[in-house]
Amino acid sequence: NEGALWGARFAGGPSPELAELSRSTHFDWILAPYDIAGSHAHATALEAAGYLEADEARIMHEGLDALAARIADGTLLPDPGDEDVHGALEKALIAEVGADVGGRLRAGRSRNDQIATLVRMYLIDHARIIAKHLLRVIDALVAQAEAHPGAILPGRTHLQHAQPVLLAHHLQAHAWPLVRELERLVDWRRRAGASPYGGGALAGSTLGLDPALVARELGLDRPAENSLDGTSARDVVAEFAFIAAMTGIDLSRLSEEIILWNTREFGFVTLDDAYSTGSSIMPQKKNPDIAELARGKSGRLIGNLSGLLATLKGLPLAYNRDLQEDKEPVFDSVQTLEVVLPAFAGMIATLRFDTERMAQLAPQGFSLATDVAEWLVKRRVPFRDAHEISGALVRACEERGIGLEDADDELLRSVSEHLTVEVRDVLSIEGSVASRTGVGGTAPERVAEQRAELVARAQAA
Ligand code: ARG
Repeated sequence: NEGALWGARFAGGPSPELAELSRSTHFDWILAPYDIAGSHAHATALEAAGYLEADEARIMHEGLDALAARIADGTLLPDPGDEDVHGALEKALIAEVGADVGGRLRAGRSRNDQIATLVRMYLIDHARIIAKHLLRVIDALVAQAEAHPGAILPGRTHLQHAQPVLLAHHLQAHAWPLVRELERLVDWRRRAGASPYGGGALAGSTLGLDPALVARELGLDRPAENSLDGTSARDVVAEFAFIAAMTGIDLSRLSEEIILWNTREFGFVTLDDAYSTGSSIMPQKKNPDIAELARGKSGRLIGNLSGLLATLKGLPLAYNRDLQEDKEPVFDSVQTLEVVLPAFAGMIATLRFDTERMAQLAPQGFSLATDVAEWLVKRRVPFRDAHEISGALVRACEERGIGLEDADDELLRSVSEHLTVEVRDVLSIEGSVASRTGVGGTAPERVAEQRAELVARAQAA
């Protein structure tokens, strides 16, 4: 078994079936640049501790640079016989610089502390990319809110007309969860900064290598406090997968609304041609596939998280090979978000809203009944009674097939002596929205303030 990382204590090589099962190069090769970075840092630590002469270290670093260049241009690839990225790269290094120097690199490290470190480095890099994409979606929502400062949307609970709100308020309500995902990524990064490198297989090293130096070289913050925990904990991976899944859910909820808004029945939005798809049989079709794929892929992101959690459950300390199963799900979550988020941002940025239609529908369903009740409260009517009176007015109007705003003086009076004609002041959508001035409310000035806060929080993250 030429070039394998182990074998001396075995009578023969592994069976082909084992090799087939064990091989991870088809997914862990993506970590090759990080493996090289880890080897550079480790070589520096070996030299600092006196295990490499200066010229040996130089040969080692040059050899690693040569491998990095071949990884980048695609000319260095794993062989079918390689078990994993670590073995493939050690073999390539020895081919590059010879076994006398290349064979010294593995001292004081294990694939267990390597892989635990490399996956963190990969996720930290991609967290930065995902954060940029998230910001673009937030920017697109904010830009749409800004472009429609006065537009009204029928606000819903239980999917039924509830109270009118500003479209901007609603769009910002979808941006806030994404701001929180950005903040979660920042918080996650603090925990991801611990470097397991130097923990060895599980118990630490006898060689007196400096794990803080390695952590620093790798752009991480500090060595992991406990070598058993460092090599076998994957909560940092699971937490990342959670943030990815939650992001998928945020997008999925907005997608569901866009899909509804885009129906003929709602007619609230039109999708830009560049961000919609056609049908192979129905020539007239224009479909919201980006929203549907975002909604569908949220299931996949949730699956990646739950699969990973199931893998971790019940694993004894320390490293177990089960842990190899952390990579495909979390890589998939990264790759999924990195294709969904840019398309999603483009779809949002190019949405066209039919604000007239939304405003026309907003008063329907007696959505101003709460305003009537609160108007009565301001006139010292107890809310219990106000609720009754407003409810009776709804019923009277419903019987007559009219809206609240169409109730004449006589009808108002017949429902309650408290319902004087001044109530009409609050029976306008604009009046209703403008009067919701409480913190977090839908009054235009509150929504504008909230938007400034949202943008500041997103930029601070
Ligand atoms: N491929 C393994 C993983 O992804 C790392 C190598 C550890 N292998 C081992 N036999 N100890 O977790």
